[in-house]
Amino acid sequence: MPLQIVRNDITLMKCDAIVNAANSTLLGGGGVDGAIHRAAGEKLLAECKTLGGCKTGEAKITKGYRLPSRFVIHTVGPVWQGGTCGEEKLLRDCYRHSLAIAKEHDFETVAFPLISSGAYGYPKEQALQIATEEIAAFLETNEMTVYLVIFDKAAYQIGEKRFSQIAAFIDDRYVDENIPLPCSEALPPTTAARAFSAPMPAFSAKEGKDASSLEEALKTIDESFSEMLLRKIDEKGMTDAECYKKANIDRKLFSKIRGDRLYRPSKTTAIAFAIALELPLEETKDMLQKAGFALSHSNKFDIIIEYFIMRKNYNIFEINEALFAFDQALLGV
Ligand code: AR6
Repeated sequence: MPLQIVRNDITLMKCDAIVNAANSTLLGGGGVDGAIHRAAGEKLLAECKTLGGCKTGEAKITKGYRLPSRFVIHTVGPVWQGGTCGEEKLLRDCYRHSLAIAKEHDFETVAFPLISSGAYGYPKEQALQIATEEIAAFLETNEMTVYLVIFDKAAYQIGEKRFSQIAAFIDDRYVDENIPLPCSEALPPTTAARAFSAPMPAFSAKEGKDASSLEEALKTIDESFSEMLLRKIDEKGMTDAECYKKANIDRKLFSKIRGDRLYRPSKTTAIAFAIALELPLEETKDMLQKAGFALSHSNKFDIIIEYFIMRKNYNIFEINEALFAFDQALLGV
């Protein structure tokens, strides 16, 4: 998946490169910098000593030594001074320059920490927004999987203003899964995730005669998920790449779906495409149904998706940030 927000210790990530939130000496320090140097071993410091430091907003690369990742891209974030000293531009530069180095080296996977958001004091919410914007902009024209590694929960306090409206929306809608509901939305937890069985071929007596084999019978399926997806892409005048990038889906998975009319995507993949196509709620539900899923009010994931669709906010990265904040699966793969 092109942009994944994960909660982890970045020194444990196995990527082509991890990014280090260093200082301008590049000679180590506390926070993520200290953790990376400890995990990589002394040879990392020895190589860093040859680099002659690094300016704020710029980036330099070294090997990863004992780290599971092959390389480390060292970048120096700005110290937060209230936001009036060009901090935003410098922080954006950190992501841009680090990604440019990753591109030069043809890396397929890179992991970033939330640069400047620790010792350098950049407000976490803003740091996160800048990180996702810059990575998303880069991924519009580049094929790479980029992880944004969040170490502490503080960046995602649900009580914070940013997510408080979503929290209220969930409170309004959320129905405890243990209480049976009288309406059609009363899906037990297991079926809430996969509410319908696979699209079933129509086995009427008449059609049964024609359907001499299972293969024949399968041909009688109504429009499949993959067919609906390709039709909608055409109708919206999008290219395939525009669609899968907007869905935060990688090209290989898209090709698989394109090539197999009966492909059964995961629920998060199916929703990601509905979001990329900017489908209204009813059409999103239709599309999900074709993949064997439904949206209900009995789980937070579905309610958060509904929240964004109802507000016509189809920015998958914003949706993923909210899903992450509420400990839900992210959209994409
Ligand atoms: N994995 C992922 N993220 C981490 C880890 C880890 N192991 N450890 C901390 N973080 P900081 P800065 C998060 O302070 O603000 C150093 O001394 C942390 O929660 O590491 O850019 C350098 O030498 C926070 O969200 O970096 C510089 O002097 C984020 O990483 C200075 O700190 C960044 O926090 C750089 O400060």
